[in-house]
Amino acid sequence: MLELGLIVLAAYLVGSVMGGLILRPLIGGADIRREGSGNAGATNALRTRGKGFAAAVAVIDVLKGVAAVALIPQLSLLTETAQALDPEWLMALCGVAVVFGHVWPLWHGFRGGKGAATLVGVMIVIAPMALLPILAVWLLVLVFSGYVGLATVLAAAVGPVYMLAIGEPLTGMLVTFTGVMFITIVYTHRSNLKRLARGEEARFEKAMLFRR
Ligand code: G3P
Repeated sequence: MLELGLIVLAAYLVGSVMGGLILRPLIGGADIRREGSGNAGATNALRTRGKGFAAAVAVIDVLKGVAAVALIPQLSLLTETAQALDPEWLMALCGVAVVFGHVWPLWHGFRGGKGAATLVGVMIVIAPMALLPILAVWLLVLVFSGYVGLATVLAAAVGPVYMLAIGEPLTGMLVTFTGVMFITIVYTHRSNLKRLARGEEARFEKAMLFRR
């Protein structure tokens, strides 16, 4: 149990390293959580500081998701007790932990991003085949609506639906992980959803196919 806790903690701490905040020196020390939507992730980095900064933030936030599930579970090889842990579920737990670290980062006062970029990094490792429909839905919703938050919530819903469609059992790791992540993404986007309901959510007009 101790080993499991330490491995999951390591994934959480990696998730707590926020691209949008460690790269602050590039933008004169500014905190993007005080600007735009208040989100420390790549979308708000793009909104407030432009493409170059946003790309750098996205790369870090995606890569830490990849690292947390591809590398950190390997720590279980260090002890015999940890070797008995189920490798699939260990990856899933590390995936949840790295996304939670991104949303509630220890190093940055527990105020981070909304989890999407880091979740993409995790999915690249644990279920790359699901990324195609997920990214397709994200792109379609974005180009037709202009709302990144809505696109992210609907794309996250594709995860569990896709897993069930390909015959993953309800008790399986992939259904559970994508289901937990969908709930997390809805929660982290609750302010976007409230703004959408009030008609106050900002659109990315430039991403839209048909602009008003
Ligand atoms: O991944 C975050 C995105 O879906 C929404 O970001 O800054 O518009 O709240 P934001």
